[in-house]
Amino acid sequence: MSVLSTKHLLGIKYISTEDIQAIFKAATDFKEVINRPIKKVPSLRDITIANLFFENSTRTRISFELAERRLSADVLNFTASSSSVSKGETLLDTVRNILSMKVDMVVMRHPAPGAHHFLAKHIDANIINAGDGTHEHPTQALLDAFSMQEVVGNLKGKNIVIVGDILHSRVALSNVFCLLKLGANVKVCGPPTLIPKHIKELGVEVEYDIRKALEWCDVANVLRIQLERQETKFFPSLREYMLYYGINKKLLQDIGKPITILHPGPINRGVEITSDVADSDHSIILQQVENGVAIRMAVLYLLSGKR
Ligand code: CP
Repeated sequence: MSVLSTKHLLGIKYISTEDIQAIFKAATDFKEVINRPIKKVPSLRDITIANLFFENSTRTRISFELAERRLSADVLNFTASSSSVSKGETLLDTVRNILSMKVDMVVMRHPAPGAHHFLAKHIDANIINAGDGTHEHPTQALLDAFSMQEVVGNLKGKNIVIVGDILHSRVALSNVFCLLKLGANVKVCGPPTLIPKHIKELGVEVEYDIRKALEWCDVANVLRIQLERQETKFFPSLREYMLYYGINKKLLQDIGKPITILHPGPINRGVEITSDVADSDHSIILQQVENGVAIRMAVLYLLSGKR
């Protein structure tokens, strides 16, 4: 069994290109498994996994749970809103109590950037980051890159633009790390107020004109405008955002070349992307969701080898 170079998946920043390739190879095998009539394998039969969600989620939470069940793990679900966190219990106390029930792996989403790094210093279980505030969302970046590869082949030398609210997006940062490790050329595109000041230092280029960005790229990963993380106004109105940065069918037709469109979800239809693009042949949004299960199976399986 191949294993990863790390015990935890805290972010794409902390894993190697070889780790990413190993995850993709295992995900390819697991994708074949989950398309069989009998979708379950016994790989994690004696492993107990806790899914700790301190922030809302639809895709990631369901996808991890399905991945765990497909691998025959025992699964324990925790959501902060219905827990003793509301009575003031700390993150460390919450997790230590759950781990005393003999949990082997922890999948966690938390609003605080770095919460997983903090936990990793205090507990023995494998930790998988399912999103930490505006920091990283590593399994999303892995499933995004894996889905891109299925359509355009090896990402080395491919032109990929990440569009939208880069400033508040953990998906953007994890995508940047992942795509650069795989040898892609990466640009970010959005209003100047939503592009972090020092992003070029990571090795990406910035393009403020959506038409130029789309003319340049093979693949566009379109991000949600994260209004819940914006305490001040970063652009005048959603209507104006749509006018300058929204991706619609007419824009793609004018550009007139095949561009693969991704979106991590949830979509603000009619804001960052119109329905006629989200539901078109350009879009691989549902393929991303399908691949999410295989990628998460691969991550869980490979990390279990570090136990
Ligand atoms: N892509 C993603 O993280 O979606 P959820 O917030 O629904 O998990």
